[in-house]
Amino acid sequence: MKPLIAIQGAMDGEVIGLLEAMETYKEEKFGTYSFYIGEIDSMPLIVSRSEIGMANAAASTTILIDKYHPDLIINQGTAGGHDPNLRVFDTIIGEEIIHINSFMSPHRDKEEGMSPENWVPMHSFIREEDGRLEEKFVFKSDPELLSAARDVAGEYSRGKVVVGKIGTADFWNREIDRIEWFHQHFQTSGEEMEAYAVAQIADAFKVPFLSIRTISNSEVTDDGIEDLDTAGRYCAEFSLQVAKKIYQQE
Ligand code: 5AD
Repeated sequence: MKPLIAIQGAMDGEVIGLLEAMETYKEEKFGTYSFYIGEIDSMPLIVSRSEIGMANAAASTTILIDKYHPDLIINQGTAGGHDPNLRVFDTIIGEEIIHINSFMSPHRDKEEGMSPENWVPMHSFIREEDGRLEEKFVFKSDPELLSAARDVAGEYSRGKVVVGKIGTADFWNREIDRIEWFHQHFQTSGEEMEAYAVAQIADAFKVPFLSIRTISNSEVTDDGIEDLDTAGRYCAEFSLQVAKKIYQQE
């Protein structure tokens, strides 16, 4: 059986390329979340505009799974670079996703100030099917989907493709010391605002998940560009190649 693939983008610029490729599609709305149902080259596809941020990503992913029962979810879009070797329009296949806004601070007395570099990461609690509570710091992309993405990495012509770790938060970090701290302590390649929430919900419903992100801005290179729309288009273009590869090999 061929899989039903869902591709998510948070913003218009991250889904527009897919909608153009579908040509005709049906739009269904649940609350504020839009789902576009159509086909590209005879491959059935659900495109989901998740809206920005972790709460939106979690809610729209829950609706996506409940209403459409996709066999897999590709969460894709733009990201800020953490790795100084990654330039704008390079693309990260997110092998691992961590939460970079979930910390416990050590105690400090009044007037002792704040010290974010001493904050300790907190895990997510996941209720497993057997009732156990599992502690997770990291969610992973599905290995088979990851390997399909690797297989077509050579077809991406807008920059290089790396396999790396994505950090998610409801936060846009622009402090270079903090970005370097994430990169050095947690080996993040880039940051964005949805993947961890999507991966967590996908894990809860046991739906295979894949993260793909194209760098749209970086404080740690001298690129000086911030182009969410172009990076969004490039990522959607590559994500479609990956989806086609997955669809063909099933
Ligand atoms: N930090 C956080 N989110 C970013 N995005 C692009 N670049 C960054 C960045 N440096 C993405 C998020 C969100 C939107 C604001 O753009 O995933 O959807």
